[in-house]
Amino acid sequence: MPAYPEYRPRRLRRTPALRNLVRETRLSASQLVLPLFVRAGTGVRQPVASMPGVSQTSVDELVTDARAAAALGIGGVLLFGIPEHKDAEGSGAWDDSGPVQQAVRALKRELPELVVITDVCLCEYTSHGHCGVFVNGEVDNDATLELLAREALSHARAGADIVAPSDMMDGRVGAIRRALDANAFQSTAIMAYSAKFAGAFYGPFREAAESTPQVGDRRGYQMDSGNADEAMREVWLDIAEGADLVMVKPAGPFLDIIARVKSETGYPLAAYQVSGEFAMVQAAADRGWISRDQVMMESLLGIRRAGADVIITYFATDAARLLRSPMSS
Ligand code: PBG
Repeated sequence: MPAYPEYRPRRLRRTPALRNLVRETRLSASQLVLPLFVRAGTGVRQPVASMPGVSQTSVDELVTDARAAAALGIGGVLLFGIPEHKDAEGSGAWDDSGPVQQAVRALKRELPELVVITDVCLCEYTSHGHCGVFVNGEVDNDATLELLAREALSHARAGADIVAPSDMMDGRVGAIRRALDANAFQSTAIMAYSAKFAGAFYGPFREAAESTPQVGDRRGYQMDSGNADEAMREVWLDIAEGADLVMVKPAGPFLDIIARVKSETGYPLAAYQVSGEFAMVQAAADRGWISRDQVMMESLLGIRRAGADVIITYFATDAARLLRSPMSS
């Protein structure tokens, strides 16, 4: 390629219009998914202290939030449930009249066009807070699969477009696919949390979802942060088991994994900008140390540029609003 002074990269940076013309990566509201936390009751809106702007809500309030987000063109919502009662098995997870199942039905009735995704995991529903059947200090992989399949089936019956297993048990995508197909839900898609790394970035979420493990941590099932080749194996396993979309989580600290998954598989890829990533931006902005809106958009653009097709983010509604205004370029 030519070099200076024939070639001057600054020529195309001179005006907003020129920069806009040649921008390689763009964000679109339709690629953003908003996570929502649902609990029983009506008129309930309980703010989550560690996640300013995020609340646990009852179904009616959830529909209000989803409607506002949908009006701004967001791509979908991802539902997490907070049950009234927890038990050792997590039986609330497959209760057809649980908060998530009711929310799915309400959304499909009120906003039929909006993509509804449900988180499939047991940690919000178990008294011990682990993501599966907990025996002798460990999560029993194979005993958990059947329970996850029941939960996914219950979400599919309620009308979920996509079920999203986040538990990291081996073989769960296949178990869920078989259960869905055996019950005539062959059109319900699976978004697998394929490369989900253990760590402290989920801290604020566990307050929102009331899902902190009572003893131990999740390192026996979620991935070790140092492992990129293993992340690729996890992704290929989920694809082989029938995942329609795969996911990398958290997003910001794992952009290299996002880039590898996209380039090596070519599969539809989601990245989850998790609660800790969100909380850090909010906290610094509250102190006046960074410009919230700019850092929010830069963090999302970075995740897109790395290769994510879909971004799950607590900023979805705010980012979609900014993308509307002509100033966003
Ligand atoms: C459930 C689940 C978690 C998140 C999504 N699904 C928490 C965890 O694994 O502890 C984290 C989301 C976030 O931090 O925003 N297993």
